[in-house]
Formats: sequence, C-alpha cells, structure tokens
Amino acid sequence: MSAGTLIVGASQAGMQLALSLRDAGERGPITLVGDEPYAPYQRPPLSKCYLQGDISFEQLLLRAQEYLANRDISVLTGELVDWVQLEGEGPSGVALTASGETLSFDKLALTVGASPRRLAVPGANLDGVVYLRTADDAAKLRQLQHEAESVVVVGGGFIGLEAAAVARKQGKTVTLVEATDRLMGRAVAPVVSDFYLDAHARRGVTTRLNAEVVALTGRDTRVQWVELSDGSSLPADLVIIGIGVVPRTELAHQLDLVCDGGIVVDRFARTSNPNVVSAGDCTVQPDWRTGSGKVRLESVQNAINQAKAAASTLAGGVESELPVPWFWSDQFDLKLQIAGLWTGHDYYVVRGFPQRESFSVLYYHDDDLMAVDSVNAPSDYMAVRKALTQGSTIRAEDACDVSVSLRELIRPLSGDIRRRRHRF
Ligand code: NAI
Repeated sequence: MSAGTLIVGASQAGMQLALSLRDAGERGPITLVGDEPYAPYQRPPLSKCYLQGDISFEQLLLRAQEYLANRDISVLTGELVDWVQLEGEGPSGVALTASGETLSFDKLALTVGASPRRLAVPGANLDGVVYLRTADDAAKLRQLQHEAESVVVVGGGFIGLEAAAVARKQGKTVTLVEATDRLMGRAVAPVVSDFYLDAHARRGVTTRLNAEVVALTGRDTRVQWVELSDGSSLPADLVIIGIGVVPRTELAHQLDLVCDGGIVVDRFARTSNPNVVSAGDCTVQPDWRTGSGKVRLESVQNAINQAKAAASTLAGGVESELPVPWFWSDQFDLKLQIAGLWTGHDYYVVRGFPQRESFSVLYYHDDDLMAVDSVNAPSDYMAVRKALTQGSTIRAEDACDVSVSLRELIRPLSGDIRRRRHRF
C-alpha cells in the first residue's frame, strides 16, 4: 500500500497543498502534521479581530473536520516532526515526531512556516512579555491586555502596529519602540511609513524610532519597565514583541536542501532536491517580475499560490506562474493594501490625499509601474493589481488625476518597457 504524501506543517500553505493535491487527482493517503494542538486555522485575524475578541476560535478554522474527512485528508495535530530522511534522493522516506511516531511517505512537502524572532535582552523571559504568532499567543495576549494599563510594543512592523492599534482601541497607554528610522520598513516605502507614524500619533500611540531596547526589568517575575539605550525607561505591564520572523529550516538542513534566508524554491515550489517541495513563509523564491533573485513573501496569498504550485508539481504537472504579490494590514480604521513589490523603484507618485487618510502611492522603475500602496483607496489598489496582472501599466503623469479612476487609465506597455520586462 502507498505510504502517501506527508505534508509537514499544518497551517495555510499545508492545508492548501493538501486540498489542491486532492483536487489534482491524488488518490493516495494525504497526511498533514502540525505541532500546534489545533486543526489548520487562519493567522491574519490573530492580530486584528481575534485579538479584539470579535470572533471565536472556531471562526478561524480553515476547514471543518468533516470537510477534510470527506476528502480523506488526515490531520495529525500536536506532533512536532523533528527528524526526516529520504531513501536515496527520495521522493520516499520516513519522518519521526518528537513523541516517537514514525511516518513513512512516498512524497514530501515542507510547509513549516516561520517562528517569531526572539528579543535577545536580559529580562525577555519575564511574565507579561509576549509574542504573537499562534492562536494560543493571541488568547494569552488578549487576557493580559485586559488587565494591562501601559503597553509597550517592540517592533514597528505589521504585528507591532496592528497590536498597538488594538491595545489603543481598548484604551491602553501605548508606546511603540522601533529600532530603525521608520515604520514597516520591510513592506512599504518611506512616504507611507511617515504617514503611518503620524496616523498612529493622531490616535494616541507614542512611537520611539531609532530606539534600542537593552533590557526588560520588573519586580519578582513580572515585567515593569522597558529600558532603552538612551537611558530612558518606559513603564510597561505588558510588552508585545513583533520584531520579525525566522524561517524554520531545521528539517531542510537535515535533508541538505539549499537554504538562503529560507528554503530556496523555484517557481514550481521545488527545493534544490526536485523530489521535495516547499511553500509558504519558510521559503525564498524568484522575484515575480524578473524570475531571478530570492524573495521571501510572508503573506497568506503567497502561501496559497505556492501551495497550489507545489501540489501541481507533486501531481506531475508543471503549472505555475509567479503571480503579483499582494498584502494587507488593518490598523484602526486604516486599510493598507499593497500590490507588487516596491524594492528597486526609482520614483513614485502620490494620488489622493494623505491628510484625508485616503491615498495611494504608485512606484515606478524606468517608467515601468512596479507596485502600489493604497490607504483606504481600494479601487486604486484593484486597478494597479489588475494592470500588473495583465502586464499593462498606468502612466505616472496620468495617475495623480483623481477625477479619473485608475481603472480607466490602464494602458498597454510601450515597446520600450515591454522589452525591459522579464516576465515569463
Ligand atoms: P516585520 O518584519 O513586519 O516587522 C518587524 C519590525 O521590527 C521591523 O520594523 C524591524 O525594524 C523591527 N525590529 C527588529 N528588531 C527590533 C528590535 N530589537 N527592537 C525594535 N524593533 C525591532 O515582522 P512582524 O511585524 O513581527 O510580523 C511577523 C510576521 O507576521 C511577518 O511575516 C508579517 O508579514 C506577518 N504579518 C502580516 C500581517 C499582514 O500582512 N497584515 C499582519 C501581521 C503579521
């Protein structure tokens, strides 16, 4: 009997891979194994409506038990795979869990995700210091937040800003500490970082940029102060840390897969051993526009697309393209939507009104449209995503005219730009 497909990592990418593999006609057993005690669930609400207490855990679940049973997909929860070996170059092999279970497989997929980067300072293990990655983290944070008055958030990325917004909405005193000179530096350009700095300030969040946390101190085992390198101390009965993630590459290293800031995969989600696929936050992949380089895309959309490519590869297909990346973030009443990647742009134009908290920033390289960040401007975002997806453009000189919708401004690429683009 076939040992089937083993998918290590039971979150968004793993779940999608299992479903798409079944849809692609796979008839053998499919087993998803995850170290959390729950069936696969959505993570984006953890720093938004779930943290606020607006939805229940059941509403986070990606698929009902019955749905999975009907597709003959087994989910093994609470099991950490800590050892894996291929027979020769694979694809078959065997995995062991920390509790001693042996799992044989004919095909292997790694959808192991990433872990929160830990703050390496004295006092980081005090009570009242929390990270936010799992449903258990969010539930704990919700409870602690309820009792807290002064909240310090370390890290001005997506997690930090979303958590700061939730805490502020609950009436807490919130100070956000960011190590660099701007917010969301990994995801957006400086003009958008500046806007968010002001927008959070208007809503009562105090931000300290270029600030280095040197210690967390407290009484007994409980945190009370966040100490900064300039000698100042911030009072805190709750410290939320969101300083980025580290891809989980332990198993990939055991398998001698090439890793470089994540498990390196091609656009078919194949690792350096083409018998093993990988998808989601644990991977780096070619840039969607150029087909080269190594980009880590930490988003649900990427997890889903890569998982579909991985399923197609395991099923013997070669279907794949690198879709336009997109992201979103909800902070207070501000919806940030991002399509494309802005890195490498040489200029940008602003459309709309930052002072009215509704605007978009369109990024260009050599007059070629690359990306958009939209704040409370969903139709701009949709238009740019459409233009990028269909290989069209919106000319920068037209884009600022808010009397015309961006959708109407989508144009075919000029010959020059077409030649410069490397889409395949
Ligand atoms: P991030 O990489 O977005 O931001 C981390 C921030 O922490 C950066 O601004 C960085 O400069 C700062 N930082 C790093 N070390 C620091 C230190 N020692 N002191 C102060 N600041 C420091 O990572 P984040 O926010 O932790 O998010 C984790 C993951 O969750 C990411 O994969 C993110 O994409 C994902 N996520 C995505 C959301 C979305 O798409 N809306 C929402 C929430 C999370």
